[in-house]
Amino acid sequence: MTTRVIINCAMSADGKIALRTRKQTKISNEADRKRVHQLRNKCDAILVGIETVLTDDPKLTVNSKYVKKPRQPVRIVLDSKGRTPKDAFVLDGAARTIIVTNESCKRVFANAETIRCGKRKTDLRKLMELLEGRGIRSVLIEGGSEVIWSFLESRIADEVRIFVGSIVIGGERAPTPAGGEGAANERSVVALRLKSLRALGNGILIRYEVVK
Ligand SMILES: NC(=O)c1ccc[n+]([C@@H]2O[C@H](COP(=O)([O-])OP(=O)(O)OC[C@H]3O[C@@H](n4cnc5c(N)ncnc54)[C@H](OP(=O)(O)O)[C@@H]3O)[C@@H](O)[C@H]2O)c1
Repeated sequence: MTTRVIINCAMSADGKIALRTRKQTKISNEADRKRVHQLRNKCDAILVGIETVLTDDPKLTVNSKYVKKPRQPVRIVLDSKGRTPKDAFVLDGAARTIIVTNESCKRVFANAETIRCGKRKTDLRKLMELLEGRGIRSVLIEGGSEVIWSFLESRIADEVRIFVGSIVIGGERAPTPAGGEGAANERSVVALRLKSLRALGNGILIRYEVVK
């Protein structure tokens, strides 16, 4: 696969990515926000799962506060059943959007192209081939938890970048960077190779390569 897949997320010092209600909370700092917008601008696409759209309603655009002339990568939502709300920011026309539904979903979306891929959830390997065919050479996975696990478990992800913010969220139910089913045995655990570690404002940025 030639398309590079980078996972990026922000977690608390105790390894949570949102509140126990799954609502977003501020984990990043200004230096990290700048880094993320610059990283988005370098990628051809930004991808999230439908639950992230439903809970956070992210814009997934590059803010001109951080990048002078934003390229606005394609926004991609994995949304098998076509649940993206009509008034979601991803459908505001501010950047190109692709909604990925399953083969039986009939919904069409204003301001978005639809790719129908997979019988139930998105068939990620097939999706990557389709994206490659559209000239997409780099995809930034911005969450949430279930989507990140799918890209790691399938070993489609090449790199993981985690910003560790200096807060504690706590609780057993708060989501962690990789949710979904998780590994059931040692063989299914995803190995990472540490590439770099640096302080970023009051937090830490960790970069790993996925061992394949
Ligand atoms: N701190 C951060 O950096 C950060 C970033 C983003 C999100 N978040 C947090 O993450 C949480 C949302 O994460 P989540 O785990 O609930 O949901 P999610 O990963 O955003 O979305 C998961 C959904 O995507 C759809 N999907 C379709 N194909 C899939 C596939 N092959 N693999 C996985 N998912 C697929 C499924 O819904 P269908 O079956 O309906 O298609 C699935 O339930 C929120 O609390 C949000 O605030 C945090």
